[in-house]
Amino acid sequence: MAYADTSALEKNVTVLTIRKMKQAGEKFVTVALYDAPMAAMAEKCGVEVVLVGDSLGMTVLGYDSTIPVTMEQMIYHIEAVARGNKKSLIMGDLPFMTYATPEQALVNATRVMQAGAHMVKIEGGAWLAETVQMLTDRGIPVCAHIGLTPQSVHKLGGFRVQGRGDEQAKQLYIDAKSLEEAGADAIVLECVPATLGKQITDNLEIPTIGIGAGIETDAQVLVINDILGLTPNPPKFSKNFLVEAGDIPGALKQYVHDVKQGVFPGSDQIFE
Ligand code: KIV
Repeated sequence: MAYADTSALEKNVTVLTIRKMKQAGEKFVTVALYDAPMAAMAEKCGVEVVLVGDSLGMTVLGYDSTIPVTMEQMIYHIEAVARGNKKSLIMGDLPFMTYATPEQALVNATRVMQAGAHMVKIEGGAWLAETVQMLTDRGIPVCAHIGLTPQSVHKLGGFRVQGRGDEQAKQLYIDAKSLEEAGADAIVLECVPATLGKQITDNLEIPTIGIGAGIETDAQVLVINDILGLTPNPPKFSKNFLVEAGDIPGALKQYVHDVKQGVFPGSDQIFE
């Protein structure tokens, strides 16, 4: 599929853009990616938010988890993505144990923003509220990440669906509300039952970005390796868009289309 050599995004995407899109009931698209050419292509294909995720530890660097990822590796990839993409909102992950205290978070979030990110993402629930407030009060937008939080994989006992059962679901709901109240600008919901994804989305003013969280979240995020069929044992919530599209821009455009039309995720990609 051909794609224009210009941006498909009319204006720079900001935290206000994605909040307005939620208010208008318009879905936005997020892709986790790690380099300049893919970042440029995402912009040309209309991807509103690019996430330089610490998933790069597994997708690019060959680790078994995201735990070994360092600040230096994150900075290297955020700088590359920022060079390639001028209009999407760039979100950068703070890696494992770089935000264990609010003060440490401030130092490391500053580095991520100075590398070219427009927003930082941190994994955790209500315990992070003080950190979120510390960052947002100082002008650093925060996306919180709850549900399956890969940096806690050993505490969770594996990459497993979270929020099943009333007690766990209630806790995730409380986490989401606390993080919003603390000033978060968006929340990633990873691997939670679709009903919980909807309940949290319906009760927040800020947008939710789902990955394995059902069709009702305000946005979807997938990792570029999964979109392009590069993952040997892909997660249930992902989809290889390359196989039908035939080329990389086609795959990205199909993903953008399917999210916006509410066709992705389908029933095969959600958890009950
Ligand atoms: O690191 C990452 O890419 C992520 C997404 C999978 C949400 O956190």
